[in-house]
Order: sequence, then C-alpha cells, then structure tokens
Amino acid sequence: MRYDESVIEQVREANDIVDVVGQYVRLTKKGANYFGLCPFHGEKTASFSVSPRKQIYYCFGCGAGGNVINFLMEYENYSFTESLKSLADRAHIDLPEPSGGGEDKGSRERRRQLLDIHKDAAVFYYKQLQTPDGAAGYQYFRQKRRLSDETITHFGLGFAPKASDALYRHLKEKGWGDELLHASGLVTIQERGIRDKFWNRVMFPIMDINNHVIAFGGRVMGDGIPKYLNSPETDIFDKSAHLYGLNFARKSRRKFMLICEGYMDVIALHQAGFTNAVASLGTAFNEKHARLLKRYTDTVILTQDSDDAGTNAKLRAFPILYEAGLKVKVLDMGSYKDPDEFIRAEGPDAYEACIHKARNAFLFMIEVLRRGYDLSDPADKTAFYSETADRLCMFREPLERDNYIDSVSTEFMIPRDELKSLVDRRVETRGAGVETVRSMTGYTAPSAARKDRRQQESVELVQTAGFFDTAEQARSHRPDGQGGKENAESSMSLIRAERLLTAWLCERPDLGRYVFSHISPEDLSSDICREITGMLRDDPGSFTAAAFLDRCGEDEEKRKAAAAVFAILDSGTALEDMSKLDLEKGLTEAVRAVMNSRYDREIRSCGSDMTALGKLLQEKNRVRNMQIKIQ
Ligand code: UTP
Ligand code: MN
Repeated sequence: MRYDESVIEQVREANDIVDVVGQYVRLTKKGANYFGLCPFHGEKTASFSVSPRKQIYYCFGCGAGGNVINFLMEYENYSFTESLKSLADRAHIDLPEPSGGGEDKGSRERRRQLLDIHKDAAVFYYKQLQTPDGAAGYQYFRQKRRLSDETITHFGLGFAPKASDALYRHLKEKGWGDELLHASGLVTIQERGIRDKFWNRVMFPIMDINNHVIAFGGRVMGDGIPKYLNSPETDIFDKSAHLYGLNFARKSRRKFMLICEGYMDVIALHQAGFTNAVASLGTAFNEKHARLLKRYTDTVILTQDSDDAGTNAKLRAFPILYEAGLKVKVLDMGSYKDPDEFIRAEGPDAYEACIHKARNAFLFMIEVLRRGYDLSDPADKTAFYSETADRLCMFREPLERDNYIDSVSTEFMIPRDELKSLVDRRVETRGAGVETVRSMTGYTAPSAARKDRRQQESVELVQTAGFFDTAEQARSHRPDGQGGKENAESSMSLIRAERLLTAWLCERPDLGRYVFSHISPEDLSSDICREITGMLRDDPGSFTAAAFLDRCGEDEEKRKAAAAVFAILDSGTALEDMSKLDLEKGLTEAVRAVMNSRYDREIRSCGSDMTALGKLLQEKNRVRNMQIKIQ
C-alpha cells in the first residue's frame, strides 16, 4: 500500500476541485457546475465540466475525468504519489510515511531491472549481427532492406540466433533470475524447458521517449508466419501508449509528424531524412497516441499503407487526432504500398513532394466515401449527400463547419445551400462533434478493437443520457427519416441503462430499495457498474464518487469508466430536476433492460431443458408489466 485511505481522503477534502482546476483552466459557472475549455484535448467550445458537489471533473468531449488527485496526475503527468504530495503541500498537510512501506520503491526497482534486462538483450542481439551466425540477419538488413550501417546502429537493430535459448543462456550468465526473465516477456516457459521468445529473426528494439528499450519486434527473414512477432505487454511495455520512433521524432526540427504503419517504414523514412516519422506498434491508433503526439506537434500527416487496411487506419485515426486538437493531412503514395517501398523506388525528393501535396483529411474521407456510390443513380446520390452531411457535423465551430461545407460542395459538386441546410438541420437536432458523427454513421469501422467499442459506448451514453428529451426523439426527427422506429421502451441500450441506474443510485442511495428488489448488482454486465452498485447496496451511507475514484488509484481505464458514470447526470436532466413520474419511468425502463438481459442470458444457457425454458419465457414476459412506483 501507499498511503492510508484516510490520509488520501484528508488531502482530497482539503483541496477543493474547483480551486485547483481553476488554477489551470478558466472556469465559468453554469447551473450547479463549472465549465471551461478542456485542457486535455483541443477544443473551442467548453465541454469540460467540474462538479463542486461531486468533487469530480469530466470532459464530455474527450472523456477525461476523475477527482482532484487524478486531475494533477493527468495535467502535470504526476504519479499518484506525486500528485498527493503536491496537494498536501498546497493544503499544508504533513504526509505521514506511507504504510506498508517500500512497495513503491520495490516496483520502481523492478521496473529498473526489467529495463536493464532489455538493455542487455538489445546489446546481445545487436552483437549477433557481427557473428557468423548473425550474417543472415546482417545481409537481410543491408541488401534486402537497403539499410546503412549507420541506420542499423542508430535503431539498434539486431538478430536473434537460431538456437532456441541463446538469449536465455546469455542473460542467466549475466546473473538474471528466472522469475524476472519470465516477467520480461523475453523467454517463455514450456514443457521442454525455458525457451527464447524470439529466435531466427531480425530484431527491432522498441524504445520509449527516453531511449530505454522496453520491448522488441522480430521479423522473419523470409515468408514465415507470423511476419512480425512482438513482445507481450509487461510492467514496462504498454503498447497502446507508445509510438515507434518517437524518441527520435520528438527531436526533429520539422513542425509536423508522419504517421506510418510499420517498423520498416519508420526506419526507411528516418534513413531518408524524414526523422519525424512514427508508427503505432501493431495496434490501432488511439487517444493515448494522439495525446502523446500533441505534446510535440500540431500537425500530423497520415502515411499508412495504400491498401484498404491502411485507408481504414487513416479514417479511424483522423477523428481521434482531430479531437486531440491536431491538424490532419493524408499523404498519397500512388501505387506504392508503403513509405518504405516508395522511398526505395522513388527517393526522398519524390516523397517530399508528396508531403507538400498532402490532402486535407476530411476531404480525403469524403472522397473515400464517394467511391462507394454510383452518382448517376439518384438514390445513391441522395445517400451520398446525406452521409456527407452527417460527417460535416463533426465540426463544432460554425465557421469551421461552413468552410468545410464550401470546400466539399465545390469539390464534390453538391449544391452548397442544400448541403448547408442538410447539415444545419442535423446539428440542430443532434448537435455537433465527433461523437455525434460516430453515433449517426457508426463511424468507427466494424473491426474496431474492444477498447474502441467501449469508448463508443460511453460516448453514446453521455450523449443520450437525458434520454427523455434527446436521443430517441432526435432520431425520429432525423431529416432523412431514417431510424426512429424503435419504441422507447426497448430502445434503452443495456450499457446506458446500467450506467444511468448506477449514477442515480449514487446520487440517491435510497432508491436502492426499489431497484434491488428486482435486480442485484451481479446482474449488471459492466464491471464498473457492478462494482459501484455493489458498494451502494452493501454500504450506501459511506459512498462518494471522489472517494471511489481514489480507490481506482492509477488504474486509468477504471477511473475513466467511473468518471463517465458519475458524469452522466450532469450531461442530461439532473436527477433533482426530474419529476417523480419521469424518475419512475426512467427507473422502470432501466431495470427492465437489466432484467431482460439477465433472462436472455439464462435462456441461452438452459439448453434443451424445455420446462426451464418455458418458465423463463413466462417470467421474462412479466418484465413488461413490471412498474416501479416510488412511495
Ligand atoms: P505490414 O505487414 O504492413 O508490414 O505490417 P511492413 O511494415 O510493410 O513490413 P515489411 O516491409 O514487410 O517488413 C505493419 C506493421 O504491423 C505490425 C508490425 O508492427 C509491422 O511493422 N505487424 C505486422 C505485426 O505486429 N505482426 C505481423 O504479423 C505483421
Ligand atoms: Mn513494408
């Protein structure tokens, strides 16, 4: 443990979140809450809110959220302890020694050891290139990939020999123990004994921004499978938070960054003088990557592969980067597959010319969209205009939106005034912003990672939290008449229902007696909602949002999920403004959604037992008549 909960609470309570955040962000009071421009993503309209009563902050734009301790962690890049210390100072509180002592130090020590192991491994792989065993790897880099000796050294490239435990034996000789080696991800324990993770591959060390090796990628030299093998996530490697090449790119003098797909693309670009190239590591580009980049640049040029996968990668990255406040362009490499192939064939000057011609990412997106329609068919043409209007809603700022409407109508020959009125009507009913577009168009490609989906859920939730007066109605008023057929009763998505229930209970634990007589926390599908409602059921008196966020510690995902739950009341109709009837309706609908999902689950698992099935179906039927009445 670090500090006792009571100490953390004392420090938190001595620092009012409005005061602390107010030192960094200009806040204006609106109703019960304060609003300002979010410091965590670029925006022009205030979607960052601070609740003095709940002592939390939450951004409806980017989803950043937490209590006062989390705010400093995020803003100042502090660890939990550093943030706590700084707030204790601010309130003139003397912090006692952390209880349990030393684990912080212990885990720091362990991280250092893992870094040392990786450094030893990198040196080992690098030296192999000069041995007869490693000649094949050296030839591969020099001849096949056209890398210079300088480049090989600069990136610390190496070779993992054929013997299946060469690295393991080397690291053992250096004195490292099995437990640590296993934790490093560089060796695997198998029936036949301990083996290296990588063998007979050329090796790419992955460095953090301070040039520490934190992981490796290894490529087969021929056509084997998998082409690239990567280190697993470890205590020092979180692949969603690193960009390959950023340690060099951040020192580049150019004002923009190039985003590509692979190790070899980054290396080829750097060798050709484009030292501002980075790649995400075999994972989809995400918000963390975007925020990381935003620290170093204002403009990014997307230069992922030219195939469909690469195009999708660009289309997915664009709104994420835009939301982080970055200007985004897309580079066209013509018929070449990736920057590596382009440079090898056409040379650096030709690539530089492509950079100058890079296209606005939004216009690129509309162009890709258009390829899917046959504009000589009136139905297709209408659908294309409608989709284009949907996407134009991503710009929150009216002036910016108008500028895009102008460009799009000129370039794609859409009558400007008609397009503008399509867009205006959408913005009026649905609002503007990236999330709006996502929910209108299912913008995130279907293959999106689990994480993306989770994010989308929370976005949709926040948007529709005041569900009595927004989402359903807005949908049924859609100008193009699409959607809107679902009846309100069955339309509340499960995740939204669970989060609303959780938020309501959090605000009014006394509602528990109406809710828990029908469902229990275990029935909820969302981990975070299950956890919070469980506490609210077992000990309703002592639960507060800010204290819960403390207990999440450095678990960023969990904290964000919780902050989103706590925030939803602020985005829609606040509980205290709801009539008793509305509240009853809302509770009923949400509890029904949870009950239905529980019955569906049970029905699915009862197999061929017809008696049980019949009974379950009967019970499920009764859910429709269940009504919650508040005394
Ligand atoms: P690509 O398949 O586009 O390969 O993978 P590439 O970068 O052009 O590789 P070369 O030129 O054939 O050497 C792009 C990136 O996706 C990840 C790697 O990070 C790779 O650089 N990847 C790819 C994997 O992690 N595993 C794989 O099996 C393939
Ligand atoms: Mn390639």
